[in-house]
Amino acid sequence: MKCKRVIISRYGGSEALQVVEGEIPKPRVGEARVRILAAGVAWGDILNREGFGRARPPFTPGYDIVGVVDQLGEGVSTITVGQMVAALPVVGGYAERICLPASELTPVPTGLDPAEAVSLVMNYVAAHQMLHRAARVRRGERVLIHNAAGGVGTALLQLGKLAELEMYGTASRGKHELVANLGATPIDKEGFAERLSALASDGVDAVFDPVGGTRLWQSYRTLQKGGRLVVYGAHSVVTEGMPKMILGFMLSSALNLLPDGRTVLNYSVTPPPYSKPAWCREDLSMLFDLLAQEKIKPVVAERMPLEEAGRAHDLLGKGAVAGKIVITPTPAN
Ligand SMILES: NC(=O)c1ccc[n+]([C@@H]2O[C@H](COP(=O)([O-])OP(=O)(O)OC[C@H]3O[C@@H](n4cnc5c(N)ncnc54)[C@H](OP(=O)(O)O)[C@@H]3O)[C@@H](O)[C@H]2O)c1
Repeated sequence: MKCKRVIISRYGGSEALQVVEGEIPKPRVGEARVRILAAGVAWGDILNREGFGRARPPFTPGYDIVGVVDQLGEGVSTITVGQMVAALPVVGGYAERICLPASELTPVPTGLDPAEAVSLVMNYVAAHQMLHRAARVRRGERVLIHNAAGGVGTALLQLGKLAELEMYGTASRGKHELVANLGATPIDKEGFAERLSALASDGVDAVFDPVGGTRLWQSYRTLQKGGRLVVYGAHSVVTEGMPKMILGFMLSSALNLLPDGRTVLNYSVTPPPYSKPAWCREDLSMLFDLLAQEKIKPVVAERMPLEEAGRAHDLLGKGAVAGKIVITPTPAN
C-alpha cells in the first residue's frame, strides 16, 4: 500500500515542498501508526524549510498532528486501533501516515474537530505554559502580546482572557478587529512602545515576544518593576537576519544582569525548564477539556490538502494568515 507525504530535499522557498508517494510505513516495536487527519502549519516549518531550524534535508515538515491509530507495533498496549490521538513530532506531520512511539501520543476526546484539536497541540500548550509556567501571570495583570493575531498569539489571547488579564496585542492593521474580538486592545506593530505608554503609562507585567532580535529592547522597556519578558521565537531572523537575531539572544542574557527587578525568560515547548514531555501531555489533556467545554475556540484560518502545503507556506510567510492554517492529509471518515 502506498501513501503520500510532503518532502523537502533542499532548503529554499515554498517551491521546495514536493508531494511524493512511497510505501506505507510500518510501526516498529513500541510504535503506533497514525493516519493523519490534521497537521498544523507553523512558522517553525518555514524556519526549517529555509535552513534556520534543526531539520536537515530530506525531511517532511509538520510539528503537530491529530489522527487515528491504524496499526500497532509489537508491545503496544496503551492505545487501540481506531483511537484519535495527538502528537508533537516536530517533523513529519505533512503526511498521510506517521509512525511514532506510543508513549508520545495523547488521546483526543471523541467529538472534537481534528483541525481545532491540532491547533492546541503546540500553540495552546506553548501559550498555556508561557502564561502559567514561565510568566506565572495573576488575575488582573496587564500583558502585551506580540503577533497577537497569529497562531500562538490568538492562543495567548484566548487563554489570557480566561485568566482575566488586561491584554494589549500588536498586529498589522487588517487584523485589529480579530485582536479586539478576542478581548485585547489592538496596537500597531510600528511604534508599539510609544502607543502602549500612552495607553498604560505604568508599563505592563508581562510581554510575550516571538520576534526577538534588537527589538527585544523595546519590549523590555515596556515592563514595569517585577515584569517578565517571555521570549519564544525568532521572527527577526527573517526581518533582520541571523547576526541581529543572535545579538537579540545575547541582549536577553545581558538584560537579566540588570538590577532593575525585571526578568527575561526564554521559552521553548520542547526542552525544560518551563516545558517537559509529561507537562505537555498533562497540559494538552486539560486544553482538550477546555475545547470540549467550548471555553476556547481555535482560529482555523484555512484547511488545505497536502498538495497545497506550498500555498500554506506562502500565505504564512507573507503574514496573510490570522490564526492557524491546517493541512488535512486524509479525510475524517
Ligand atoms: N518556543 C516555542 O516553543 C514556540 C512554539 C510555537 C511557536 N513558536 C514561535 O512563535 C512564533 C509564532 O509562530 P506561529 O506559527 O504562531 O506563527 P504566526 O504568529 O501565525 O506567524 C505569522 C504572523 O507573524 C506576523 N509577522 C511578524 N513578522 C513577520 C514577517 N517578517 N513575515 C511574516 N509575518 C510576520 C504576522 O502577523 P502581523 O501581520 O500581525 O504582523 C503573521 O500573521 C514563531 O516565531 C514561532 O517560531 C515558538
